[in-house]
Amino acid sequence: MHRKILVTTALPYANGPIHLGHMVEHIQTDIWVRFQRMTGNECYFVCADDAHGTPIMLKAREEKIQPEELIAHYKKEHEADFSDFNISFDNYHSTHSEENRILSRYVYLKLRDGGHIRRKTISQAYDAQEGLFLPDRFVKGECPRCGAPDQYGDSCENCGATYTPSDLKNPVSVLSGQPPEVRQSEHLFVRLSNFTDMLHKWIAEEISQTEAQNKLKEWFEAGLNDWDISRDAPYFGFEIPDEEDKYFYVWLDAPIGYMASFKNLCDRKGIDFDAFWKDDKETELYNFIGKDILYFHTLFWPAMLHGAGFRKPTNVYTHGFLTVNGTKMSKSRGTFITARTYLNYLDPEYIRYYYAAKLNDRIEDIDLNLEDFIQRINSDLVGKVVNIASRCAGFITKNFNGKLSPQLDDMDLYRVLTDARASITEAYEGRQFSKAMREIMALADIANQYVNDQKPWVLVKDPVQREKLQSVCTQGLNMFRVLVHYLAPVVPKLAQRVAEFLNDPVDQWNRIDSPLLDHDISGYVHLLQRVQKKNVDAIVAASVEPYPDDSAETNNEISIDEFSKVDLRTAKVLEAEDVADSDKLIRLTVDIGTETRQIFAGIKGFYDPESLVGRTVVIVANLAPRKMKFGTSEGMLLAAGDDDSLWLIDPGDEVGPGQRVS
Ligand code: 2FM
Ligand code: ZN
Repeated sequence: MHRKILVTTALPYANGPIHLGHMVEHIQTDIWVRFQRMTGNECYFVCADDAHGTPIMLKAREEKIQPEELIAHYKKEHEADFSDFNISFDNYHSTHSEENRILSRYVYLKLRDGGHIRRKTISQAYDAQEGLFLPDRFVKGECPRCGAPDQYGDSCENCGATYTPSDLKNPVSVLSGQPPEVRQSEHLFVRLSNFTDMLHKWIAEEISQTEAQNKLKEWFEAGLNDWDISRDAPYFGFEIPDEEDKYFYVWLDAPIGYMASFKNLCDRKGIDFDAFWKDDKETELYNFIGKDILYFHTLFWPAMLHGAGFRKPTNVYTHGFLTVNGTKMSKSRGTFITARTYLNYLDPEYIRYYYAAKLNDRIEDIDLNLEDFIQRINSDLVGKVVNIASRCAGFITKNFNGKLSPQLDDMDLYRVLTDARASITEAYEGRQFSKAMREIMALADIANQYVNDQKPWVLVKDPVQREKLQSVCTQGLNMFRVLVHYLAPVVPKLAQRVAEFLNDPVDQWNRIDSPLLDHDISGYVHLLQRVQKKNVDAIVAASVEPYPDDSAETNNEISIDEFSKVDLRTAKVLEAEDVADSDKLIRLTVDIGTETRQIFAGIKGFYDPESLVGRTVVIVANLAPRKMKFGTSEGMLLAAGDDDSLWLIDPGDEVGPGQRVS
């Protein structure tokens, strides 16, 4: 059956770079889309930049440019990133477009005229200096529950409480640093509760992931709140019809941006827009998203579509977040890797394969472990798959002038590979990519085993075995061809190079029904390099930001009061000796002016103990004593350096012991 499918990925905000976290979703979706196309379905794939909202307006203000200029810059950058990662969008549009203005207006008017909009006056934080209402994240203060300082206006990172900015103690505007005023203003709300029954039914019937179902159940139990869709001027967005100085909240026109991008494509290509948006009988619609925006896509979005007389998604496919080396991406560790930095050093096919090998249909986070990444690509793609071709191709080129034999050496074995198509299809369709990759690699093992057993490098030495040599290598190359078809949605560029080398297209899975026989191949070209560790290291080095701006790290700030609790003092070394049973420790006896202390310091190998005697050093004098295997350490020595070099903090010998350091 020929299916007609429209697929979307979440729209990236037009105020920052695409990073490897975004790429999880775009790669996941692209693999699924390419799989659909290779199995003969008609599949359109659209996305756009999410161009509206306060952060974008303020960033433009800060850079002293118009928001239009800012979003044009990021759109260009995002498009280049996606295209270089081989994401096969049919269209990449912007929410700041005429199609989107028209559609957003249409949806809103339908909702309004259908009685789904109500007005309500709300109090909101207002920055009088900057002249604008502040989004929750632009107000900071002390958590109303635990008192943690410097928390955002919507939730506390320390205790997890959620609240509104007016609940914060001692709030300030992030923009001006001034305490915000509270001002009243009338907002427009979508009556989400009007859609409760419809949403219940749609979710039960269409949303297939159990984790999503469970989350939705919680939200339903808590009750559906009406949704605030208006923002007051100044705001970068679309003006709301028949209102004064009111704009659509960015999250209203963002998902409508899916429709707008598709509309733009339809107008250029003559595709029937209504067949995909009015009617859900003949066509399918899938939104791929991250777990943080499930609420928008499974409650607000279907309610808007339904209220405006459009079809709802066939399914919403949600994925988890990306961690790198087991933790949140971090700028200071160099693991906040932008798409462009990756592309500067490595082939996108590597990470496409790595993500595929990790992804399944659940809402779980996936980890990019950089050591494992190198290992996995080199052993699977290079060591298993490409290896088959490189072991067989040369014999065909050199001994048979590039011609494959008229029949296979082992048709039954060839069928073992092609018969796996049903289960690989099922795995791809169900987004069980890791399962698909495992199955494909198991088939690659079978193919390699075949080549090992047949030993073409031995056959070539025996003129009597000439025909056998040709059919063995033809067998090997045909098994390779099947594997490359299976992998093509994941590694499209590799598939393209293989198509050139085999002199035969790799574009539809049903081509593998018949093997390539009596056929001229082009010469073997190098298909894929091994991943070099030095390139991965270079990516990390290029991603390190000297001044960490990860929120977790800035939250490590301490107050002056906390700092002044640390009793830093000069001390004179009286005795020093290496601790015999330790690789690291030197035992010191120091005079701190008022008493002598024993300190075990991890400086062995950096200093000759004798050279320390008589020197003045700096210590933390009020550290709680620590019992160690060799005795109790009653303080800590200050030093600078890392694993390779170390320097004791040296105030100079003219300073006597017992001076306070501050
Ligand atoms: O969370 C985000 O990054 C949003 N820009 C996603 C929007 S998806 C869609 F609804 F537009
Ligand atoms: Zn708190």
